[in-house]
Amino acid sequence: MAVNRDQWNSQIGFLFAAVGSAVGLGNIWRFSYMAYEHGGGAFLIPYVVALLTCGIPLLVLEFGLGHERTGSAPLAFAKISRKAEFFGWWPVTFVMFGIVLYYCVIIAWCLNYCFYSLSFAWGDDPNGFFFKQFLRLPEGPMDIGGINYKILFSTAVIWFLNWLIVFRGIGKGIEMANKIFMPLLFFLTLFLVFWALTLQGSVDGVVAYLKPDFQKISKIGVWIDAYSQIFFSLSLGFGIMIAYASYLPKDADISKNAVMTSVMDSLFAIVAGLGVFAVLGFMAHAKGLPISKVVTESIGLAFVAYPQALSIMPGGTFFGVIFFLSLVVAGLSSSISILEAFTSAIIDKFNMDRGFVVTAVCIVGFAGSAIFTTNAGLYWLDIVDHFITHYGLVVVGIAECIIGAWIFDISRLREHINKTSSIKMPPIWDGIIRYFVPAILVIIVISDLVAEFKAPYGGYPWFSLIMIGINWMLFTLIAAAFFTRFPWHYEYMLYTPDEDNEE
Ligand code: ALA
Repeated sequence: MAVNRDQWNSQIGFLFAAVGSAVGLGNIWRFSYMAYEHGGGAFLIPYVVALLTCGIPLLVLEFGLGHERTGSAPLAFAKISRKAEFFGWWPVTFVMFGIVLYYCVIIAWCLNYCFYSLSFAWGDDPNGFFFKQFLRLPEGPMDIGGINYKILFSTAVIWFLNWLIVFRGIGKGIEMANKIFMPLLFFLTLFLVFWALTLQGSVDGVVAYLKPDFQKISKIGVWIDAYSQIFFSLSLGFGIMIAYASYLPKDADISKNAVMTSVMDSLFAIVAGLGVFAVLGFMAHAKGLPISKVVTESIGLAFVAYPQALSIMPGGTFFGVIFFLSLVVAGLSSSISILEAFTSAIIDKFNMDRGFVVTAVCIVGFAGSAIFTTNAGLYWLDIVDHFITHYGLVVVGIAECIIGAWIFDISRLREHINKTSSIKMPPIWDGIIRYFVPAILVIIVISDLVAEFKAPYGGYPWFSLIMIGINWMLFTLIAAAFFTRFPWHYEYMLYTPDEDNEE
């Protein structure tokens, strides 16, 4: 008995959606700052090694599992073993009740800044404007203060857009939106990069960004950051790529899509970095400062350093609007994918109406985002993000390898992938998924834990880290266990494709 499932209208539609999920806020400023900090051009070595040894193999695994088992993460895993179902629920729960809540608030800041660019609302103190006036940041995370209504309102707009797209389903909603978003984003980014490269001093910025410092990449921490960046950037361990691949037709080219998604995601990050650093080079030149004095960490890069540069740049208003607009587009194409990962899981398990699920999920999501629009929102966001991305994603990555390679038959999965794919996965892929990727991920978790105990993350008080970060993780674990316990609406959905059809 087959279950009716939405499908992508075209392979290119799927590719755009997968790239849309991968290319996000992380690519535009997180990558460029990380590359600069970790040895410039030399950072490309650990980055590409991480991409080849972990990013692409895991993306093939996620696409392969979603396609072969034809289900969202919980369904795909439950079809392998009922005991594995929890590891499908946990990611879709922590991305829905964690990552996307604050992700939408950051997109909302970008929306506000689109408008602020029109009048350079930050005046001559972008730092004070962002932290004191806009965010009203207090002394510590427990000093929540009140809701910041300007941010709450723009967050509501972002949630409404998410709702509008995901409500319409796969073909008419997510695919159509990405077919507009992706070409628009690439066009806007290239436009900004070329413009930035014409500014005086831009070359110095690009040199600072790419100048290789091979000594830095001898540090283990740099390699760990490269692997973590690949993980977050390719949306691995989110449950997204499994759900997206479940909507592919039978004859889809799995590995070619995985390779193209990864390459486009990385190229986008590297090219966007050129633009970011060209602008910083221009500002350093205009102010007569060394580049190191104008580079700030991720969030400061977009909301403090960039506004500073816009104020003194010819055509800065226009540049600013386009820059923040492209962040909104990049963010939205990722946030809808997170929403879909959870929505598809609920629809699979409870056979509920999509419209009802998406509406309920967006209302709850907006309510959850409200905490990140309070005065202490930035602290909360930082703490929750740290715990979920450092532990949640990586632990799910390990679980995926164990479920895919040890519980399921990895060579059978490879055969399935190779049957329709133009790039054949060699037998070594089995070994990479079975041993190499889990080993790397275990090293990452252990070294993160060691760092955690050496000093509290971000210098926050332990009390705040436990109350906000650890409790948040516990909440997602309990919620995931709760979803797991419910019976499947259609038990027959759990039959494997072999039992189910002609194969
Ligand atoms: N992959 C998305 C990003 O990089 C979540 O922002």
